[in-house]
Amino acid sequence: MYKKLSPFIASLIFSAIGISTLHAEANDKTIYHSHDEKSTEQALGYSKTNQSISRYLAYRDIPSLITQYVHGKKTLDYGAGTGFSTQFLQEQNLDVTGVDISNEMLAQAVSNCPNTPFYLIQNGSIPIASETYDLVFSSFVLFELGSEKEILNYLKEARRVMKEDGVFVAVTASQDAYSKDWFCYNIDYPENKNLKSGNLVKAYDRQINMEFTDYYWTETDYLHLFQQAGLQIIGAHYPKGKEGEPYLWRDEKTNSPFVIFIARPDIHPSLGPQETAD
Ligand SMILES: C[S@@+](CC[C@H](N)C(=O)[O-])C[C@H]1O[C@@H](n2cnc3c(N)ncnc32)[C@H](O)[C@@H]1O
Repeated sequence: MYKKLSPFIASLIFSAIGISTLHAEANDKTIYHSHDEKSTEQALGYSKTNQSISRYLAYRDIPSLITQYVHGKKTLDYGAGTGFSTQFLQEQNLDVTGVDISNEMLAQAVSNCPNTPFYLIQNGSIPIASETYDLVFSSFVLFELGSEKEILNYLKEARRVMKEDGVFVAVTASQDAYSKDWFCYNIDYPENKNLKSGNLVKAYDRQINMEFTDYYWTETDYLHLFQQAGLQIIGAHYPKGKEGEPYLWRDEKTNSPFVIFIARPDIHPSLGPQETAD
């Protein structure tokens, strides 16, 4: 049957893998590359993101979006990582299962969220029956996917495991993320100039001293790929910094480094471009 990870197996994974090279520089900057195989140390380094102010902004409005759009509790954390997003969903009283493609990230998730089912994704297939979930939640995963084909497969699997009245909520970098002056991030890297879809981009989280390398996709790219996967985007929310919050927001007051897509299964997909009569 499917591979469910227990804390015991997780500890075996740790000892089997051993300690690999830490992506850290002399100033202790942690570097997280989306496209790398995750080492145990990368997974441990990633855990720092749960203290980040950027995480606060990205997640602040999600509870009210869940209340507005989601009916039911069965939830999949799709790309659960070290389990921070899983814990967040559990705090919303949802009944959460986590999946990820990385054993090393899941090993952290298992230890951070005991008594939560986690499964490893192998060959791109979520090891769960179709039409199971009221909510499929994708937190900081879309920009880890390096090709349109990968994104499409990821989205098709999300669509498959959602109930017909289920909702897909995905938070990722907005199109503005790499071109503004943020309090949360320094994005002043040569890689971020003249961006085209599929380019590698960088952002440095000032509060947690961590550099991320991800992939740049436009919102039009996402729109087309969601459509092809049988998902209809019904909302795109941009969380902005508010007056009165204890942070020195810069462009966060007018723009957002994040977009939260809300999508439903497209039960009446269009037949594609129709020929018009002369
Ligand atoms: C940046 S982490 C985010 C983890 C977690 N959702 C959070 O918000 O803290 C992205 C995670 O997505 C996972 N991932 C990458 N590609 C994936 C795929 N095709 N399917 C599922 N998970 C994937 C990675 O292994 C990693 O754990």
